Amino acid sequence: MNKILQKQVLAPTLKQIIVEAPLIAKKAKAGQFVILRIHEKGERIPLTIADYDRDNGTITMIFQEVGSSTKRLGLLEIGDEILDLVGPLGQPTEHPAGAKRIVCVGGGVGVAPVYPEAKELHESGVEIISIVGARNEELLFYLDNMKAVSKELHVTTDDGSKGRKGFVTDVLKELIESDKGIDAVIAIGPMPMMKAVSDLTKNYGLKTIVSLNSLMVDGTGMCGGCRVTIGNETKFACIDGPAFDAHEVDFIEQMRRLRMYQIEEKVEDCRCGEGME
Ligand SMILES: Cc1cc2nc3c(=O)[nH]c(=O)nc-3n(C[C@H](O)[C@H](O)[C@H](O)COP(=O)(O)OP(=O)(O)OC[C@H]3O[C@@H](n4cnc5c(N)ncnc54)[C@H](O)[C@@H]3O)c2cc1C
Ligand code: FES
Repeated sequence: MNKILQKQVLAPTLKQIIVEAPLIAKKAKAGQFVILRIHEKGERIPLTIADYDRDNGTITMIFQEVGSSTKRLGLLEIGDEILDLVGPLGQPTEHPAGAKRIVCVGGGVGVAPVYPEAKELHESGVEIISIVGARNEELLFYLDNMKAVSKELHVTTDDGSKGRKGFVTDVLKELIESDKGIDAVIAIGPMPMMKAVSDLTKNYGLKTIVSLNSLMVDGTGMCGGCRVTIGNETKFACIDGPAFDAHEVDFIEQMRRLRMYQIEEKVEDCRCGEGME
């Protein structure tokens, strides 16, 4: 059992928990995730390891309450235990060899998985330029964390309530065109955002890595739920990823697959709160 040691509300429907998980903390690397279950009949929820503390044996997770399982997770309080937590799963992100300056782009809740990437690269001496975007100021989080590991931090909001009004891709395009000697881009966020970044950087032949939040069930390569086409090959996001070369990802197929269970999810959402132990 994994006890919740800290809980913080970062934005409406966005929570951070720090959980006791010494074995996972010992091995975790940027790009990896866990799968957890809150109760015996509960759905498995994949969540990125947003941070880890090897000395204290804890991991940090940030989650958006989008459906019944994440809403139930959000009801747990400090001292409560998560029934099971498996990880670290997935491959650590393979960072471009020899890159000296990398732009890290986080959109919405994607800042949670982009932060460990930026932190790890910063600690290994790579210069980080970060772009963080959200729909509005209320949904921005981790700006201080991102600033601490970045040479430059750019903030955008769709409505202009903080930072620059517009999309992360507007800033990215300017950075690329101002010839800052960018070697690669890591972009994590909603699928349409990652596709937009990928379409942009492809024009400049700029190496880009994205992390796919595909639908997952077992997280071990057995169920096929997280199938993704990379180049012309079928891969599984859970064991081959979740990070992939953006220019090889079939984003249209991924977006179609994410919409596949929307009706079932709506029905399940109506039962939110039932079945809690
Ligand atoms: C490797 C990986 C890492 C992830 N890391 C994080 C994280 O750090 N923080 C976080 O908030 N979320 C993360 N997710 C997404 C998270 O797993 C889903 O939001 C969660 O499983 C939804 O469960 P639910 O029962 O609450 O919602 P459901 O009722 O299952 O779904 C509600 C809504 O969320 C959408 N949704 C469901 N699953 C996903 C998904 N995998 N990706 C995007 N949208 C989805 C559905 O289309 C639907 O609109 C990650 C997913 C993967 C695969
Ligand atoms: S989640 Fe089942 S194969 Fe990846």
